[in-house]
Amino acid sequence: MPDLLLLGQTLETRGNPFLEGPDAFRHTEHGGVLIRDGRIAALGDGADLRARHPEAETVDHGARLILPGFVDAHVHYPQTGIIASWGKRLIDWLNTYTFPEEMRFSDPGVAAEVAGRYLDLVLSHGTTAVASYCTIHPGSVDALFEAAASRGMACVAGKTCMDRNAPDGLRDTVQSAYDDSLALLRRWHLAGRAIYAITPRFSPTSSREQLAALGALWAEHPDCLMQTHLAEQKEEIAWVAELYPEARDYLDTYEAAGLLGPGAVFGHCIHLTARERARIAEADAALAHCPTSNSFIGSGLFDLELAKGARVGLATDTGGGSSFSMLRTMAAAYEIGQLRGRAAHPAELLWLATEGSARALRLEAEIGRLEAGRVADIVVLDLASTPAIAQRAVRADDIWEAVFPTIMMGDDRAVSAVYVAGRPAQPG
Ligand code: GUN
Ligand code: ZN
Repeated sequence: MPDLLLLGQTLETRGNPFLEGPDAFRHTEHGGVLIRDGRIAALGDGADLRARHPEAETVDHGARLILPGFVDAHVHYPQTGIIASWGKRLIDWLNTYTFPEEMRFSDPGVAAEVAGRYLDLVLSHGTTAVASYCTIHPGSVDALFEAAASRGMACVAGKTCMDRNAPDGLRDTVQSAYDDSLALLRRWHLAGRAIYAITPRFSPTSSREQLAALGALWAEHPDCLMQTHLAEQKEEIAWVAELYPEARDYLDTYEAAGLLGPGAVFGHCIHLTARERARIAEADAALAHCPTSNSFIGSGLFDLELAKGARVGLATDTGGGSSFSMLRTMAAAYEIGQLRGRAAHPAELLWLATEGSARALRLEAEIGRLEAGRVADIVVLDLASTPAIAQRAVRADDIWEAVFPTIMMGDDRAVSAVYVAGRPAQPG
């Protein structure tokens, strides 16, 4: 494959804007990204790169903005078909919409169809990597990893484990959760761009024994990830306290089972105690902020200040979240920040959706920023994709003012190109 040179505006990530401010990014108005063998080979001034690499195939994106592809740190691909279901809070929403839908995934044909549809949807929104829950059915995991591999995408996923408080047909056992997770992990972990995540759904749907068995599995395979939910709604937290009276708090139900450590990704984390916040940071675990879900299901307001001390990624939480778009998700993070009295800078929002999520998933050596050596997962944004956005962006004085209207009002129409490992994204 010949080298590929993308020309356009570029934003290079140099640090963490939560700690260093917007200077953590370097903006180049007429920049270039040289791609060789699926990875970024060089970055810099576009004309300069063109002169030095005349043999490269060149795609000129003009004034469009070249960014790392978005990384969605927490989704449930099986909930694609029930996104935007009306009128319920978390536990009722699970019982009414989610569990009946997840039962359909006992059919591998359903799983394969939804996995492909889901990944094509997210690619069209500029998302090049996801961390997804599957269902209790091992075939649902095979379906997603196969669909991701056929699109060349990095994908974190795992079999969702539940041995109680779920309907017939949607429960496993302590032993089958361990055995099925182990078999899937052996099949998929580090196969191509696949990463296995041990996935207890959350403490209410796992017995102590199941959590402990999955903790043991993680201890045996510590380079896997572990994903679950934590402190999303107050009713859920009260239920966990009833189910686990011995636990110091919700996090302790996982900690006691060996499910807290580097590589743990906790979804939501809205109503954390001081102990939980401190332990997550100390253990170098990660949080996935899911703002459209948190407003849609009525969960509460995440504290973005957590990003100063812990790994925090951004996530749609499809289908509790109400959008497949990481732009819309950044907008919701901004709005939730405002409701808490903190206006997130566009640099912080873009960072969360790229490097923040990559760090949450421990993929920062591979993806999440434009940097030589990283995989060329790239999204190109049109910063004037609708008349409403264009008339605002034209008045911008700097790149942040130019990009913020697209963050707040943009959607898949703003996504003008997507590259996965250096190739234009193609439906599977
Ligand atoms: N908590 C446990 N399962 C789920 C789920 O599927 N979605 C959300 N938003 N929260 C959960
Ligand atoms: Zn979730």
